[in-house]
Amino acid sequence: MARPGQKDPYGVRAKEEGYPARSVYKLKEIQDKYKLIRAGQRIVDLGCHPGSWLRFCSQSVGTGGLVLGLDVKEPTIPLSPNILFLQADLLTVPDETIKTWAGRADVVLSDLSPKTSGIKWLDHQRSLDLNLRALEIGFLVLIKGGSVVLKIFDGQGTKNFIKKMKDYFEQVQIHKPKSSRSESSEIYLIGQRFKG
Ligand SMILES: C[S@@+](CC[C@H](N)C(=O)[O-])C[C@H]1O[C@@H](n2cnc3c(N)ncnc32)[C@H](O)[C@@H]1O
Repeated sequence: MARPGQKDPYGVRAKEEGYPARSVYKLKEIQDKYKLIRAGQRIVDLGCHPGSWLRFCSQSVGTGGLVLGLDVKEPTIPLSPNILFLQADLLTVPDETIKTWAGRADVVLSDLSPKTSGIKWLDHQRSLDLNLRALEIGFLVLIKGGSVVLKIFDGQGTKNFIKKMKDYFEQVQIHKPKSSRSESSEIYLIGQRFKG
């Protein structure tokens, strides 16, 4: 974590390595540990702007795979042929649109962040609302045995949310990336082996 006046080393590295956001290092840490993303897979990336995770996933799945990114804002990276972007609000997009666009996916990622207010319980609640919808989308598109990675601003509803995830995934783990800013309440919930 950079001190005031110091450059954020993850931000500098992201720029050098051609990623539009430092958040890519959180996904890389998760990938190093859980190895969820593989060549040839179909990955859904919810909240994909500006596109660091899209770029990383596109390189990881290769030309035989597909990355489907959704956001209200367009990515800032050029989209390679194995990326398909849908501009939509996750909270209002119809299930049918999602099913037609995404088909069946191996992994659903969500780095969705609500507009933050600075009020901890409110930001947690907004994050929870996004995650409930992201999880629903997981249920719509995931293959049996598939995985999810969901970012949540931690708070009092997290425990119940994890309980719900455990009904649908054989394993649910909590990951706090080293590259998360120390003041951030974000954690990542990793659900593996979707029961279908
Ligand atoms: C932290 S950014 C994602 C960064 C991305 N993972 C990357 O590496 O480039 C969170 C994104 O969530 C998106 N978002 C928040 N609420 C949304 C909603 N209701 N529907 C779609 N996207 C949403 C925001 O527009 C924002 O681009």
